[in-house]
Amino acid sequence: MAPDSAAVEAIRVKYLGRKGLVSEIYSNLPNVPAEEKPLVGKNANILKNKVTQWLQEKGQTIEEQKRQQSSAEKRLDVTMPGAGATIGHRHILTQTVDDICRIFEGMGFVTFEGPEVETEFNNFSALNIPIDHPSRDAFDTFYVDVKDPDKKDRFLLLRSHTSPAQIRVMKKYTPPLAVIVPGKVYRPDAVDASHSFMFHQVEGLLVDEKVKFSDLKGLLTIFCQRLFGEEIKMRFRPHFFPFTEPSAEVDISCYICKGKGCSVCGRKGWLEILGSGMVHPKVFEAVGYPLKKYTGFAFGMGVERIAMLKYGINDIRLFFENDTRFSNQF
Ligand code: DAH
Repeated sequence: MAPDSAAVEAIRVKYLGRKGLVSEIYSNLPNVPAEEKPLVGKNANILKNKVTQWLQEKGQTIEEQKRQQSSAEKRLDVTMPGAGATIGHRHILTQTVDDICRIFEGMGFVTFEGPEVETEFNNFSALNIPIDHPSRDAFDTFYVDVKDPDKKDRFLLLRSHTSPAQIRVMKKYTPPLAVIVPGKVYRPDAVDASHSFMFHQVEGLLVDEKVKFSDLKGLLTIFCQRLFGEEIKMRFRPHFFPFTEPSAEVDISCYICKGKGCSVCGRKGWLEILGSGMVHPKVFEAVGYPLKKYTGFAFGMGVERIAMLKYGINDIRLFFENDTRFSNQF
């Protein structure tokens, strides 16, 4: 039995081809003795017909086999388990922002959002960052090709921190107020494992009468314990920010090595996670609050940095590449 259409075709060529056996018999007929010619001719016809018939039958069988095979392939097996539809989920940065905001909301803060395109006044001047301050350098900020509607000689910019939202909140509301502001910020940094030209911050601001530095310390201690776990240790280090006085940076005991010292914390056992301080009187002045009436504190943290520490992520670029092998881990 011919196994496939190629073998069947070979048989057709062998018998019925132009140089095949049947035509060979026909072309040799003139050499056959006259009395045998009718018999040879008749048998040649019989052979030709048989081969033709056989080829037809085989051709049909092969066609039928092909049909059956393809319909078997197409057939739906309703007993097979279904392919589960994958459901999307919040990006790890969104989850981290939400976790941070929920903790502060639980302590009475209200979430506020400010625009990413800001005025130079809100981003710098009102925050007591003078015109000749190094961070005003055009290379340290993305300026936008749009004139500031308030100060026509100035251009708008992409906010380089979430702190300008403090100005917006204080211009709009009178104390007591407690807000938390998550959002994107931009800096013209070359991209590498720990830098990105766009990243996320969460800003906090609380203003009232008689707010003390110890209130800030207490609040941030509870925040760190809720975000990183009760056993986390903290320290406040004196620092400088133009918009707070006094200012402090907050370190937590290294989440990876638990304070023993590892490559993530540079063998120090401590990791810096946020900047904070008591709102500078110049900032209150810039928003038109009455002198000496209010005190308040502010703080700001980098979301990528917190997520990297919390989840042991060693390259900031992973957040923005949208490789599902990364994002599905969270
Ligand atoms: N805006 C600062 C930065 O981007 C972070 C910061 C520090 C915010 C101290 C604050 C603060 O509100 O009080 O580096």
